[in-house]
Amino acid sequence: MTMHPAVTNGAYDVDRIRADFPILSMQVYGKPLVYLDNAASAQKPQAVLDRLNQAYTSEYANVHRGLHYLANAATEAYEGAREKVRAFLNAARPEEIVFTRNATEAINLVAYTFARERIKPGDEIVVSIMEHHSNIVPWHFLRERHGAVIKWAPVDDDGNFLIDEFEKLLTPRTRMVAITHMSNMLGTIVPAKEVVRIAHARGIPVLLDGAQGAVHLDVDVLDLDCDFYVITGHKLYGPTGIGALYGKYEHLAAMPPFNGGGEMIREVFTDRITYGDPPHRFEAGTPSIVQAIGLGAAIDYVTSVGKARIRKHEDEIVRYAHERLREINRLRIFGTAKQKGSIVSFEMTGAHPHDVATIIDRSGIAVRAGTHCVMPLLARYGVHATCRASFAMYNTREEVDSLAQALTKAQEFFA
Ligand SMILES: Cc1ncc(COP(=O)(O)O)c(C=O)c1O
Repeated sequence: MTMHPAVTNGAYDVDRIRADFPILSMQVYGKPLVYLDNAASAQKPQAVLDRLNQAYTSEYANVHRGLHYLANAATEAYEGAREKVRAFLNAARPEEIVFTRNATEAINLVAYTFARERIKPGDEIVVSIMEHHSNIVPWHFLRERHGAVIKWAPVDDDGNFLIDEFEKLLTPRTRMVAITHMSNMLGTIVPAKEVVRIAHARGIPVLLDGAQGAVHLDVDVLDLDCDFYVITGHKLYGPTGIGALYGKYEHLAAMPPFNGGGEMIREVFTDRITYGDPPHRFEAGTPSIVQAIGLGAAIDYVTSVGKARIRKHEDEIVRYAHERLREINRLRIFGTAKQKGSIVSFEMTGAHPHDVATIIDRSGIAVRAGTHCVMPLLARYGVHATCRASFAMYNTREEVDSLAQALTKAQEFFA
């Protein structure tokens, strides 16, 4: 893997990184685009766009069981992408990587085919109050349909994950822990390795939701020792329609299928069926072939820049954002945990977050406002919505300045 020229002599040349993302040179309303909605979805580098184009123009056919040239080329590229995800997460073998549509589908897969098999009425699932709805609703389904009890690990006012309180929630009836690696509203980074250690000491399996974590943190599933880890491609500078589930092979091998159809079977008779081995057992139907290949290219891109360098850059940007936004009197910031990634959520006194986002949009600044799919967390802080600025590898201090200026102006508007 060759190193990206933006990081060759130890520096981080953010302008050089930005030049790889065509959309970032756009103007909106006659102003330079300041894209700070990365936690919802990140923009794509040219390398990913080119890879998608190449896959469709010279490698495209359906995958597996093909006997012709293009089917083999597509299969090789698709399975090659699986290997890239494996290496990215440091899984032991490619069979532990299941391609899904997104993180949501990966969590649902685990809820239905792993947790569901273990749950009896009154059994418990422990999540955190910071979870995205996609790591809440599948467990609510198990509550509604199978009598599971959901328990909620708390955070303090700053958004720190309270590991001791988490530990107290575990009982002999806990069948699953499902916790985010990094909060999409507060930016809090959960001490995932410690969570796994504590749960495993009681024989409880752990799913980590890495939809944000895999973008901003170094992930090593062998070191974390988690049972499942989920990622979603579009937040990782890859295409939409592709995500992945890492699962320990012993779990995957014991799990029944999720969806039924082509690709996931071994044999089908009129009176019985037999299933394929993981990961294909969980990839029914034609998969998101080109999207998986695009995700592989996104992983190559991120790896060429280096996760550690990206993290350092994003840490600087988010620190600077905190500094600048703290200067604005009427802003309340949510999420000042000791360990946090590049996300800042805030509200402006006397103004609805939607109005704030709409006003600053006119200055070319894209932030998200609303519930961020974390209603239980909003309830924890007694609010209905927030604005959220989320930073990626290509964001700059100047963009933070633009955000701060636009918010100061908006504040005058609501005065
Ligand atoms: C922490 C977290 N988990 C899960 C998801 C769901 O990702 P997807 O919609 O790609 O399935 C998101 C998306 O915002 C997220 O931030």
